[in-house]
Amino acid sequence: MKNEIEKNWDEMSEAYENFTEAEDSYSYAIEWPCIQKILPKLDGKRVLDLGCGTGRFSFLFENENPLSILGADISEQMLNIAKNKAMKRSSKVEFIQYDINDLNTYNNERFDFIFSSTTFHYIKDLNGLFNNIYNILEEKGTCIVSLMHPVYTAQYPIDKNGAFPSDDEWVVRYLDKSTRAYIQPWIEYNDNINNYLSTSYHHTVSDYFNAIINAGFTIEKVEEPFPPEEWEKTCYGRYNSFIETPSYMILKLSK
Ligand SMILES: C[S@@+](CC[C@H](N)C(=O)[O-])C[C@H]1O[C@@H](n2cnc3c(N)ncnc32)[C@H](O)[C@@H]1O
Repeated sequence: MKNEIEKNWDEMSEAYENFTEAEDSYSYAIEWPCIQKILPKLDGKRVLDLGCGTGRFSFLFENENPLSILGADISEQMLNIAKNKAMKRSSKVEFIQYDINDLNTYNNERFDFIFSSTTFHYIKDLNGLFNNIYNILEEKGTCIVSLMHPVYTAQYPIDKNGAFPSDDEWVVRYLDKSTRAYIQPWIEYNDNINNYLSTSYHHTVSDYFNAIINAGFTIEKVEEPFPPEEWEKTCYGRYNSFIETPSYMILKLSK
């Protein structure tokens, strides 16, 4: 039986793909350049992409000549898009349907590089998650996690059993740990999608850092990437809203 988050991502898969694959998407303009700056050498390494979605990052990592890449995601439809893309580009990335809450039951495989982008706000138990990642990371392995910035998730409206939030519910409630009901920006304008509300969790900065420290990781880098400078002139609205509420906090961790 599919859970709410899985059903939701199945429904949003195509809209998400169109949105994030646009050349000027926040991810390509802001997130990826920052990740590239801190990316370790992947040549000959075993890579795991947690919450890989439609495979964007898995495919980008493939250009770095790793030994293997495994993309894991809970949503069948997101994975279908990823697998189609893999076939078209004769990619060797392997995609599996997997709930990353269950990483503790993962088989004996170990990875040299574990990555995740914008997925951990769907995971309630951060302590369990980071412990499990630590356990399947090879000695001297590296992990990069790109998180929805806690300042950003703090403004997701509180979940009220599926009731559609009004505009005035988009306020920052930073220390409130209630489950959130997020309307993805591209969904609002998409009539083909029935379920507009995306259930997620708001974790604060200390939630993330304490889970990471308790698991035993060393924190190598903390990045809060800026929007491209030229946006200040070419698309001031976007630039300004990103300066007000950053989307990403990107962490590089080692064992
Ligand atoms: C915002 S998308 C990010 C996808 C991809 N990392 C990217 O950057 O394009 C979040 C992804 O997390 C996945 N997800 C949510 N909860 C998950 C879970 N418990 N286990 C595995 N994947 C999960 C969703 O299916 C979705 O594909």
